[in-house]
Amino acid sequence: MLPNRVVGAEQLRILTEREVELFKKRTPKSAAVFSKAQDVLLNGVPMPWMSDWGSPHPIYVDSASGNRVTDIDGNTLVDFCLGDTGAMFGHSPPETAAAVSEQVRKGITTMLPSEDAPWIARELGRRFGVPYWQVAMTATEANRYVIRICRTLTQRPKTLVFNECYHGSLDEALVHLDDHGQVTLRCEFDSNPGLVKESVARVVEFNDLKALEAALAHQDVACILAEPVMTNCGMVLPEPGYHDKLRELATRYGAYLIIDETHTFSSGPGGYTAAHGLKPDFITLGKSIAGGIPVAVYGFTARIAERINASFGRKPVSDPLGIGGTLSANAFAINAIRATLAHVATEKAFEKMIAGANRMASGLEAAIEKHALPWSVTRCGARAEMQFLPHPPRKGSEAKAAVYWDLIAYTHLYLANRGVLITPFHNMMLVSPVTTKEDIDLLLKGWDACMAELAAAARKER
Ligand SMILES: Cc1ncc(COP(=O)(O)O)c(C=O)c1O
Repeated sequence: MLPNRVVGAEQLRILTEREVELFKKRTPKSAAVFSKAQDVLLNGVPMPWMSDWGSPHPIYVDSASGNRVTDIDGNTLVDFCLGDTGAMFGHSPPETAAAVSEQVRKGITTMLPSEDAPWIARELGRRFGVPYWQVAMTATEANRYVIRICRTLTQRPKTLVFNECYHGSLDEALVHLDDHGQVTLRCEFDSNPGLVKESVARVVEFNDLKALEAALAHQDVACILAEPVMTNCGMVLPEPGYHDKLRELATRYGAYLIIDETHTFSSGPGGYTAAHGLKPDFITLGKSIAGGIPVAVYGFTARIAERINASFGRKPVSDPLGIGGTLSANAFAINAIRATLAHVATEKAFEKMIAGANRMASGLEAAIEKHALPWSVTRCGARAEMQFLPHPPRKGSEAKAAVYWDLIAYTHLYLANRGVLITPFHNMMLVSPVTTKEDIDLLLKGWDACMAELAAAARKER
């Protein structure tokens, strides 16, 4: 058994079975809806990720408000998943809800800009440091459009991504390195036959500058798509000086640098970019930017704006290259961004969130120490990651190797049964502006009891 797993598979199975029974007792109505939904929804859910919670069935939600989710059985959970960042500022922030309630009656979509559009662009520019902005519907789309722009401007085919990254459902980023260092699919079967992944992607490990330079030296990389901190495989922090070198190498080899702030917006009002003085060519950002209403943005430098207009951007040109969509930048979505930036995702809100997250992370570290577990906590602004590793991982593959699904299922079920929700696919916990000290204490109490149980089971095994 790997020491990081703490207990053997059989002990873990016994503990998990007890939690599964408890979960079923708490959620009979959700179980019934799940069972009936099998005939009409694939695996009982409207979207694949919704069945990925490690529980026998998902909870079906009655309502979500602030940092509370109430299911149809009447259980209320304190939410540290927050829609995997979509609800980073709380569910239905009142100011966003009020603004969009009015906008929804004033017109939703017209294929014409509203006055809110230049307002949000100016505000995003002030925060993130690049002047030009465009609006998409999701972060996946924002990344897709930016990749297309980079390919067009450079006339190069490939996007370079980091092993075990996630940037949405993009062919260029749903790749990883196999045991021989070759680009391969993230799963064992070909999920998109016909597309030769090697023709669109290069993959290297995060924090490995030598591998990065070797990949860029092929001169076929249009852009590097990077989260400034990897947040989807556990959490991988950049080593000191890494971002400076990344910037330098991108420039030297003629590749654009895209910083995807979708999750790392948790670092502050201008994301990780402003908090750490990064100088990307493009920034992409989705999920929480409009309080959870589906919309995303991408920003870029004045030099890039000029280059776009010198090639395909300025009218009259017949085709905007399939960038944007009919509903992109609709008045409703833009109004939601404006309300969220003006009243919800404020400097004060971030101060509170980051202070809460630091308190949470310190509490988790204290519990790990108390129970002498070989685990660690990594922080990124308002979010923290419990990692089943004694030290923070240096690269994606190291982080991913410590994502033990059965341990995740047990710990997350344990917490859910005690009224706490955390992110299903790994151990991310996010603090919203409305998360209280008492909420954080409830989370810490849950982890402490769960760790105590694991430590006791481990002692019994010895
Ligand atoms: C860093 C990052 N970028 C982009 C995306 C895609 O976001 P969406 O699913 O909202 O398109 C995600 C989703 O988890 C993400 O984590």
